[in-house]
Amino acid sequence: MTNSMPSRRVSASAPAKINLVLHVGSPDVTGFHPLLTAFQAVDLWDTVTLSDSATMGIDCRADFDTSMVPLNESNISWRATELIRAHHGVEAHVSIEIDKTIPIAGGMAGGSADAAATILAATALWETEAPLHELFDITRALGSDVPFSMVGGQAIGRGRGDVLQSIEAEAPIHLVVVMSDGHLSTPEVYAELDRLRDGQVKVPDALGDDFLDAWRHGDAEALAPLLHNDLQPAALSLMPGLADTLDQVKTAGALAAMLSGSGPSVIGLARSSEHAKEIAENLRGVGRRAISTQSTPKSAHLQQDCAGQTGSQG
Ligand code: C5P
Repeated sequence: MTNSMPSRRVSASAPAKINLVLHVGSPDVTGFHPLLTAFQAVDLWDTVTLSDSATMGIDCRADFDTSMVPLNESNISWRATELIRAHHGVEAHVSIEIDKTIPIAGGMAGGSADAAATILAATALWETEAPLHELFDITRALGSDVPFSMVGGQAIGRGRGDVLQSIEAEAPIHLVVVMSDGHLSTPEVYAELDRLRDGQVKVPDALGDDFLDAWRHGDAEALAPLLHNDLQPAALSLMPGLADTLDQVKTAGALAAMLSGSGPSVIGLARSSEHAKEIAENLRGVGRRAISTQSTPKSAHLQQDCAGQTGSQG
């Protein structure tokens, strides 16, 4: 049935992330693991479009299989709209369309990006004008990586990953992202890390100056030996085939290869954009799904705000 209610659409985009360094401590009393991490936003974006609708609805599109994305109230975007509605007493419903380029369940915070984009779009659609710190509380409630997905760029993360200190970068970092077949559950990777460890582990107080200098200058040669991910041995223990992927990325020419977050995507570090393209091509030649990309200084942002446009609704 068609009616003539004015229909508004708002789109927002948020970036993927990788952790160039990820130190994980032993879990605290809440069961969460304290982190010291170097978050880097990557130039792969998910876009969420919200439009006025008589009922809640959700859809997801991508050039790859999206069957793992739940199309119901358990989807993180749907939960984000519910939190915004509850927080601001909004009664209206929305239709949610998610356009994904970030690998699903790959350790690149695709779900967190969807949540961040949804919060921005919902705030604009409903003109709630929430102060930033209120939005931040909502981002935290949705997941540990969602605050970074909102601020993007580069940041040192502490706490659960939700306490952020932004870093200025003077030059980009060039990367290859390799998708793995299969999926790793983040809680299971953390639990496996605890199982593999003897005794309590504390995270370092700070990232090293060598790393910070290399990061700021986009100096890939200096960064290569300093990439670090405490979750990698746990992910390898759960998915031993990842060792072959890491070897293939190095053989394809990357300066370093490392698991992204809790995996199973793997990142390769490149010297330049041409080098990243060449590594990705080599990996595709041996049957891997690989894309070349680079770091981005951008944050989550509104893509278009068509508030006020009229149209018809089905
Ligand atoms: O916060 P988020 O929902 O992304 O976390 C997913 C799971 O990962 C948590 O339930 C927890 O098991 C684990 N986690 C953790 N320590 C962190 C972040 C996540 O143990 N700092």
